Amino acid sequence: MTSQTPVPTHPVLGLTHRFVPGTDPHRPPLLLLHGTGGDENDLVPLGRAIAPGAALLSARGAVLENGMPRFFRRLAEGVFDEADLRRRAGELADFVTAARTAYGLPAPIAVGFSNGANIAAATLLLHPGTFAGAVLIRAMVPFADSPPADLAGCPVLMLSGASDPIVPAGNARALAQTLTGRGASVDHVVLPVGHGLSQADIDRATPWLAGLRSA
Ligand code: MLT
Repeated sequence: MTSQTPVPTHPVLGLTHRFVPGTDPHRPPLLLLHGTGGDENDLVPLGRAIAPGAALLSARGAVLENGMPRFFRRLAEGVFDEADLRRRAGELADFVTAARTAYGLPAPIAVGFSNGANIAAATLLLHPGTFAGAVLIRAMVPFADSPPADLAGCPVLMLSGASDPIVPAGNARALAQTLTGRGASVDHVVLPVGHGLSQADIDRATPWLAGLRSA
């Protein structure tokens, strides 16, 4: 059994994080959510690359698995502790609310990779108003029984890997169908890559996010 312990978090906003102010007021802010073993610094370069000028709010997962930060506990690879996932998705939604007030931000676009994409998908389904949209990179179905969320019109870009050893193609398709069935406007792209982040993710996410800029 792996050791999974909590890490110290921000006393006011709830999660350890990094905030980079935006320079382009037409860009929605990004909420960056790292993969297992990452931290709040990991995805800042990705955020800068895919949405130049956007404010970046980058959180660190509050669970440690053998020293590696994650956003929720798992029982085994791809087998989630759903009670913990529900609790942590609620905490993430509360963090976003508190950070929006503290930094004066509109609702962010969540950009999650792997474990970060999975907590983003769970938060979309449990707390639908939290994000203005989401880029889910190598996400999988977070719940055995997905909650009946209203995601009407919520833009979601899902980037899956054709040779991803962690997320089976059918699982990624099922998540895309679940989100679509709840009204989200889902673009699901299967890239010729594995589980890791790739240039192809940047090439797909950049124009998609540019399309969400306000006039
Ligand atoms: C998860 O636990 O969220 C997924 O298995 C992805 C990972 O972190 O490896």
